[in-house]
Amino acid sequence: MVSVIFCGFGEGMNKRVFAKKGDLLLRVAKQNGIKIPSECEDGTCGSCIVKIEELKTKDVLRPDEEGYSEATPIYMEDKELSTLVEMGAISKKEAEIAQQYNRQTPVRLACQCVIQTDMLIKPFK
Ligand code: FES
Repeated sequence: MVSVIFCGFGEGMNKRVFAKKGDLLLRVAKQNGIKIPSECEDGTCGSCIVKIEELKTKDVLRPDEEGYSEATPIYMEDKELSTLVEMGAISKKEAEIAQQYNRQTPVRLACQCVIQTDMLIKPFK
């Protein structure tokens, strides 16, 4: 089990919950009463965008950054990265680095985010 902390989603929705590794973030949010907009649930509309922090290691994208070796490899689908780039939430360079080094970007689509580590989740705006 991993710990997922939701913060800033509104009254009664700031909470810490436990999830299984491999659970989808959007599903865990819904099961726990956290309202994250979700129009397509297919990684294309961008409505479920959230900010993510891994709690055990800081977001570490590149091998030359401190903490890289302890960070959990996390695969992000091309579809999610393309949507995030189209929205202007991440740069094309960040998407390439995430893909090349199997790291997640600091913003994710909740409907595509498979939980692997303890996380802090905040609204995008
Ligand atoms: S609900 Fe549309 S991208 Fe997640």
